Amino acid sequence: MRYKRKFWIKFPIIIVIIFYIMLFCNLPDISIQSLANWNTFYQCSNMSTQDFTIINDERWIRIGNVFYTSAIYMHDEKQPYIRVIGIQPTSKGFFQKIFCQLWYKSTGNEAKSISVAAILRAMPEHRERRYSGSYIDCLIPKNAEVFAVSLAGEQCSKHLNSIPVVNHKQRTKQYAVCVTPLNYKYSNVHQLVEMIEFNKILGAELFIFYNHSTNSNVDKILKYYRQQGLVEIIQWHIPVKVDTWPQKSKPEIHYFGQLPALNDCLHRNAQRSTYVVFQDLDEFIIPRKVITGTI
Ligand SMILES: *[C@@H]1O[C@H](CO)[C@@H](O)[C@H](O)[C@H]1NC(C)=O
Ligand SMILES: *[C@@H]1O[C@H](CO)[C@@H](O)[C@H](O)[C@H]1NC(C)=O
Repeated sequence: MRYKRKFWIKFPIIIVIIFYIMLFCNLPDISIQSLANWNTFYQCSNMSTQDFTIINDERWIRIGNVFYTSAIYMHDEKQPYIRVIGIQPTSKGFFQKIFCQLWYKSTGNEAKSISVAAILRAMPEHRERRYSGSYIDCLIPKNAEVFAVSLAGEQCSKHLNSIPVVNHKQRTKQYAVCVTPLNYKYSNVHQLVEMIEFNKILGAELFIFYNHSTNSNVDKILKYYRQQGLVEIIQWHIPVKVDTWPQKSKPEIHYFGQLPALNDCLHRNAQRSTYVVFQDLDEFIIPRKVITGTI
């Protein structure tokens, strides 16, 4: 009896202590928490293929305060998902409700649409800029051949701009090089050729360039290598204020969106190439030993 009474006196104190511990704990990411239905798929029965157009020109599409540009099929054995690459405001506690509308081929090659709540996450490095890179992830049912996705404010709401899903199923390359966005009307053709040719000697088989701005001579070189299947060019006209020379106003994202560009490149190529390296145009990998054979 004595023990019991003591416990009931202590009980409220314990509750208060637990409450304080909870207050000071790092609570999980709100944006993931507040959408409990990110693994619930809605069949959008009132949508038909007439409701959508696939945008193939790598433009940025806006939804509320978020912009997105590409989507990649992530072949995760346990839970495959579509990773959409975009940018979102850096402000603390930023949250926006987004639904992924996924188009997939069902039996008889018929296109159908399902909708699922997106999981939104800022890329960790933003250097105090107004925008950060963003991963917008959409879980998908296993074996669903999702070929296009668009983001919307409501599930099954009418949307017009779908983007194609990049889906590499096999590693066909050994060594791919991701290059930081070309900017300030990049014009140094000699440096560009040197960089490509030197890396080719080291075994690079694919270069992925992001085009914020280039001059016409650089365009010719890039297109020449593209014809040979060595270069891929991804348009990267990021829709927020970037660095200018001379500096006019504060850029809204760090260095032409370098982080979302390199993340895009990594995810696009991780399932296509055994090795992926990030390189600037003035950076070279120098082997310290003689390498024979292949990497
Ligand atoms: C489908 O139905 C939902 C819910 O009734 C509605 O919000 C949405 O706008 C409809 N979509 C189309 C494409 O008509
Ligand atoms: C890079 O972007 C500029 C500006 O839109 C465009 O004029 C140019 O043709 C693009 N270059 C390549 C190689 O795609």
